Amino acid sequence: MKWTPWIKVEEATTVPKTRIAVGMFLPLESGEKEPLGRRIIEVPENVEATETLRDPHSGFIAYVPVGSVKKGEKLVTSGAGKTTQCALCHGADLKGMGPVPGLAGRSPSYVVRQMFDMQKGVRKGMWTDLMKPVVAKLSEDEMLEIAAYTASLKP
Ligand code: HEC
Repeated sequence: MKWTPWIKVEEATTVPKTRIAVGMFLPLESGEKEPLGRRIIEVPENVEATETLRDPHSGFIAYVPVGSVKKGEKLVTSGAGKTTQCALCHGADLKGMGPVPGLAGRSPSYVVRQMFDMQKGVRKGMWTDLMKPVVAKLSEDEMLEIAAYTASLKP
């Protein structure tokens, strides 16, 4: 089958204004826009297909701040003195290795949430301690940049 991305990462300064419904951010019907700021906003690319029809082939757009993908790439591939190269454990293309989950092409909101929870000690699992030093020194902005990059990769 032809591969199509589930999450399309788009760098943006303004994004659709959204409302929260059925566990998602949905763009307002009015089409109003607002500044993105230092956020990631994930919206269905086609609200009707996702919300009403539950179409499993209709994915999401993740709006991320301009420049974040490149900054995230540096953190992920070099550690940039702030963290450890993710590929050491998550596999060469971040597609996962043994019990270590893949990161490529996954929801950036989810990825930030997991890193945040691991840093704060809220996520606890058999393997979570391995991630503790990785996230220890990361700011929220850096987590956002990392997730913008990993979401843009082909899973
Ligand atoms: C020393 C090995 C190691 C390194 C280096 C590492 N990770 Fe992990 N990572 C893990 C393990 C093991 C888990 C599974 C933890 C668990 O089960 O709670 C994990 C889980 C995660 C998760 C949760 C995924 C999910 O499916 O819930 C995220 C997100 C993550 N890592 C991001 C990163 C990022 C980003 C980097 C690089 C900056 C990185 N990791 C570097 C070992 C590592």
